[in-house]
Formats: sequence, structure tokens, C-alpha cells
Amino acid sequence: MILELKDVVFSYNTRWNRVDVLKGVNCGFERGKVYGIVGKSGSGKSTVLSLMAGITLPQEGVVLHEGVPTSEMKLQEYRRDKVAVIYQSFRLLPLLTSVENVMYPMELRGLKKKEAQEKAEQYLADVDIPSSAFYRFPATLSGGEQQRVAIARALACETHLLLADEPTGNLDAENSEKIIDLLRRLAVERDYCVIIVTHDVDVIDKMDVVYRMHDGRLVEGKR
Ligand SMILES: Nc1ncnc2c1ncn2[C@@H]1O[C@H](COP(=O)(O)OP(=O)(O)OP(=O)(O)O)[C@@H](O)[C@H]1O
Ligand SMILES: [Mg+2]
Repeated sequence: MILELKDVVFSYNTRWNRVDVLKGVNCGFERGKVYGIVGKSGSGKSTVLSLMAGITLPQEGVVLHEGVPTSEMKLQEYRRDKVAVIYQSFRLLPLLTSVENVMYPMELRGLKKKEAQEKAEQYLADVDIPSSAFYRFPATLSGGEQQRVAIARALACETHLLLADEPTGNLDAENSEKIIDLLRRLAVERDYCVIIVTHDVDVIDKMDVVYRMHDGRLVEGKR
């Protein structure tokens, strides 16, 4: 089990109110499989992903990566070395070109600039970004292209755990299928664990396991 959540509880506390989002989430994820997380808007899917990604810690319960609780890790290292995230809103760095965005996680890991650049171009080609867009800024790319650059950047993390929040949300059916097939290949051929939050029924059909977020808990079962 690469990732496990045990009795995870999480609320957002603001000055004015408290939103109880996760009320005891229990689930596990293995390498070599693609998982779907589905559920209504506002049910807590992005929240659970941010706990898995080590962006926040649960108030109760534990998130375990290969048996180690995220609460006992240096989260910065966990995020750099163990997990890749494709965000719902891409979060590309606006002042870096496509290639530089994809190079970024590799440079953080200490790769030489030239090697990082060559690999970045390959990862961009893998997600069908035309070379004419390699050296442009995100603001000049279409929504679907930005999404695919964000996916290439996640591939460049080269971690075995990949989290994706609506990765096909801005893509047409053809590009969406290509991306899902690419993510499936990572699981099957490279033993990745891929976890995808999605509303897309065509995507859900291709998942090995589907969890539904309902009333603050994740329940296993297709559809
Ligand atoms: N920073 C925050 N502060 C307060 N409440 C928040 C915050 N972020 C999210 N919430 C609330 O927590 C709940 C869960 O949000 P979350 O983003 O996890 O839902 P989601 O399932 O990803 O929804 P969607 O499908 O629309 O992306 C929502 O009610 C949301 O308004
Ligand atoms: Mg969300």
C-alpha cells in the first residue's frame, strides 16, 4: 500500500464558521492501479487530495505514505520527492515558459539544466504539446494546453504517486482519452499509483477502483 488514510477528519475553521468536510475517511491505494474519486461539488474531493499531497495535515487520523504518517515527515521533502499533483486550476508558474515549468521539479531535485531541458521537451511531447508552444508563457496557451503542460510537469516529478484533480476538465473527448491512456500506462508499465478526481463518466469507466465521497467519507464501489 503506497498510501493509506485512517480515520481522517478535517474541517476548515475560519473566524466566522467551521466547515466539517472529512468525517472519518478510510481508504488505501496500491501501486499499479488507477483510482477514481467521485462525488458532488463541495463534497471534499480536492480537500482529501490536498491531505494526500502533504499540503495540509488532518486534524484527526493519519495519512500514511508507505507506512509513514505525513505528520511525522518534512512536508516540503514529501512534496518534492514522493508525490506529484495536477491541480484543478493548473497552477503553472506564469513567468516561466512551458519547458521551464516542466523543468522546475527536476531542477528542484538537482538535475543539470541541460538534462532537465531535454527531459522536459520529451514530457511535453508525451502530452502532445506542439513544439511551437514549448517556449511560450502559460498565458498564451489554450486552457487544454495549459492543462497538458501541468500534466507534463507532474510527470517530470517522477514519483510513483500521482494525484490529479479533474485532469480532463478542460479537454475535448479525444485529448481526454489520450491523457487517461497515458496515466493508465504509467500505472501498468511503470507501477505508478494514480489517483484521479473526476466527474467525467468516460474517465470513471477506465478506473480500476472508484471511491465516492459521500457525507465526509469515501465509499468504494463503481458509480
Ligand atoms: N480554504 C477554505 N476555507 C473554508 N472552506 C473551504 C476552503 N476550501 C474548501 N472549503 C469548503 O470545503 C468544502 C469541500 O471543498 P472541496 O474543494 O474539497 O470540494 P470538491 O469536492 O473538490 O468540489 P468541486 O467538485 O467543486 O471541486 C466546500 O464546502 C468548500 O466550500
Ligand atoms: Mg475540487
